[in-house]
Amino acid sequence: MATTSEHNRFPQRLSQPGGTRELPVRGWRVEVDVQGIGPAIFFIHGFPLDRTMWRPVSSTLSGWLRIAPDLRTAVGVPFTDPAAGLGEFADDLGVIVDALATEPVVLCGLSMGGYIAFEMLRRYPERIRGLILCNTRAEADSSDGRSGREEMIALVERQGVDSLADRLLPKILAETSLETMPRVVEHVRDMMLRHTPAGITDALTAMMHRPDSTDLLAHIDVPTLVIAGAEDQLIPAEEARSMASRIAGSHFTIIPGAGHLAPLEQPVQTSRVIGEFLEVLS
Ligand code: MLT
Repeated sequence: MATTSEHNRFPQRLSQPGGTRELPVRGWRVEVDVQGIGPAIFFIHGFPLDRTMWRPVSSTLSGWLRIAPDLRTAVGVPFTDPAAGLGEFADDLGVIVDALATEPVVLCGLSMGGYIAFEMLRRYPERIRGLILCNTRAEADSSDGRSGREEMIALVERQGVDSLADRLLPKILAETSLETMPRVVEHVRDMMLRHTPAGITDALTAMMHRPDSTDLLAHIDVPTLVIAGAEDQLIPAEEARSMASRIAGSHFTIIPGAGHLAPLEQPVQTSRVIGEFLEVLS
């Protein structure tokens, strides 16, 4: 838990415990969960999810200013150029960081949120003092990966967002989570169904064209934590371990019983690991 003097060391514009706030961002209005005071941790959600995915973890991190915005594709705000969407996501988030945090933040991104965190490192390194990479990878899509995304775009166009949710749920959650955590399953489905088909297509297009970030790994010079799910079918834990091994001094943890969404499937363990990492930074 941060002390008062630590809060003074990291003064933040927001001095009251918050809730959901609405901010203007580059021509649209974003909803952001804002909670607590202290040094800032900035959460970036995955695909096709929204800011609420971070609530189970974020609510435990007292002593920190927790900031979790929706991404534009979650609320159907189009990109200027979907193929350059990763950059547009990063620029949106740069505005939110500037509006809510006076000091550099710890960035915490899950999966697509991790891809965006890499882009923010390229564009706004001076705004980042720590990094948490959760269920994510540095590589760009393979050609099979790109074909898979084309198929998903066609599926959503033909059969709607429900059909994508049916297809993704068994991949994104561990089998045990699917069978024994009905509230998590419902939450994940609700986040997916909040998306418009155009929002889904934009996010898939942005990911399909994202740059490879493997060269960046050797240049990361902020404290970094890499979190993997033991049962992640989309980004196997060993792949995350290999990414961590290329980031000097990084910490690596595998969360047992978690699939691709460790913060939702195993919030207690994920919060503990993140809390311990933040403790060293605060
Ligand atoms: C995510 O969880 O953000 C997605 O699985 C990322 C991806 O499809 O590459």
